[in-house]
Amino acid sequence: MKLRLVNTSIFDQRLPALVLFCHEKERLDVPVLFRNLLRRLSRKEFSGADKQLLLLHSTATHLLLVGLGKTAELTPEKTRRATGLAVKRLATLGITEAAIVLAPDQLPHAVEAAILASYKFTKYKSPNDNHAALKTLTICLPKNADLAAAKAVVARTQAITNAANYARDIANLPANIVYPEVLADHARRLAEECNLTCTILDKSALETGGFGGILAVGSGSARDPRLIVLEYHGTPDPNAKPIALVGKALTFDSGGISIKPSDKMDEMKFDKSGGCAVLGAMRAIAALQLPLHVIGIIGAAENMPSATSYRPGDIVTSYKGTDKRAVTIEVLNTDAEGRIVLGDAIAYARERHPQAIIDLATLTGACVIALGSFAAGLLGNNEPLQEKLRASGERTGERLWPLPLWQEYKDKIKSDIADIKNTGGREGGVSTAAAFLAKYVGDIPWAHLDIAGTAWTTEERPYLAKGATGFGVRLLLDLLQNWK
Ligand code: BES
Ligand code: MN
Ligand code: ZN
Repeated sequence: MKLRLVNTSIFDQRLPALVLFCHEKERLDVPVLFRNLLRRLSRKEFSGADKQLLLLHSTATHLLLVGLGKTAELTPEKTRRATGLAVKRLATLGITEAAIVLAPDQLPHAVEAAILASYKFTKYKSPNDNHAALKTLTICLPKNADLAAAKAVVARTQAITNAANYARDIANLPANIVYPEVLADHARRLAEECNLTCTILDKSALETGGFGGILAVGSGSARDPRLIVLEYHGTPDPNAKPIALVGKALTFDSGGISIKPSDKMDEMKFDKSGGCAVLGAMRAIAALQLPLHVIGIIGAAENMPSATSYRPGDIVTSYKGTDKRAVTIEVLNTDAEGRIVLGDAIAYARERHPQAIIDLATLTGACVIALGSFAAGLLGNNEPLQEKLRASGERTGERLWPLPLWQEYKDKIKSDIADIKNTGGREGGVSTAAAFLAKYVGDIPWAHLDIAGTAWTTEERPYLAKGATGFGVRLLLDLLQNWK
């Protein structure tokens, strides 16, 4: 989508559609033609309440009124939702060019929602003219607005939001098309485009290195696992401690020998969403040239049942790392595979002495039960880091909610015959899964985001279509833009 910035009146734009936000019970300043139309409208038909839409048209143009609710109650998320609804309505009308009036402080939120709402996963749909999306959006700012500053805001927002859509694009691909090797190819291509360093450990490199966790989880699949490492150097100091972003990328999670019920198993193509969020974040970090050193580490595997699968009862040894801290795992349920993959990935991160580790994973069904799709679970060992993440979540609308990581949860995953077992039972499932990861983190500041409920949506949202949401990309970029 092309975005044009102007500081002239929307009614000077000769375009097929004009979008106006309206606050509840406030008068609208519109030209005579529309004023007469509006006068005949009752408050019932359109009051300006949150999420209301009203389409008026003259012969020349459509006027789309979008309710934002009460002025005093306006939030960035309401601007996003209203913009998303408007952009989707225009798309269903087949309108490709429109203008919208924005206050400068609404600009980034409206722009991100417009870009997110225009995204559709259409790669495998036959071309269909009825599905035109908005091609150009003219943004009308106040007469005295600083257009140069606004342009910079728009460029930054576009870079981040396009990266979120890129993450959605990969996460939406099915498991017959994206398997670990293909995900690694995507990472390699991204690295070339964005000037990142890319290291891929294939099966034999994982064997040599002793990545027993990723190998065990991937052992049942005909598609070999990979560990994908992307590195961005944006600090003048080459010794600056990195920030490690770690992502779970199960290109498909059937559950393995502890197989899942077939109902909704198709959704487990989204079990790579944490890894996709890391790809998206690396892309945006490079696009914005952030003054940081960031390493993206993605554990990619496919969890399948077969004669070569790992089994319940198996004992698996995770990656030792240079500090030689081997952890042995008693596998009680092959469907608790994400934590095993992440264990290796976090052990690999630890070797690089990061100043912080942030992992993103569709880790537990328990998190979906606890928080639904309205927030991701937030756990870790470092209050200030968690507080910063919380604030980024509030700002971006990618909300996080804290869950505990007390010693009791760590006790629940103690094994009689190995260092830890890979499940702590159904109770407190989010926390016992995080307790498993904590075993690999040591005392490095760490936050764990359980994105099981937020990584994809099965219902249409105001600015997100069904499918992958790209959750985490905008959140991480907000965090990293405000780092230190
Ligand atoms: N990928 C799933 C978690 C999941 C389930 C995410 C549903 C989104 C929706 C994960 O690998 C898993 O299967 N976890 C198990 C753990 C259990 C066996 C301890 C779960 O949550 O049921
Ligand atoms: Mn699983
Ligand atoms: Zn999984």
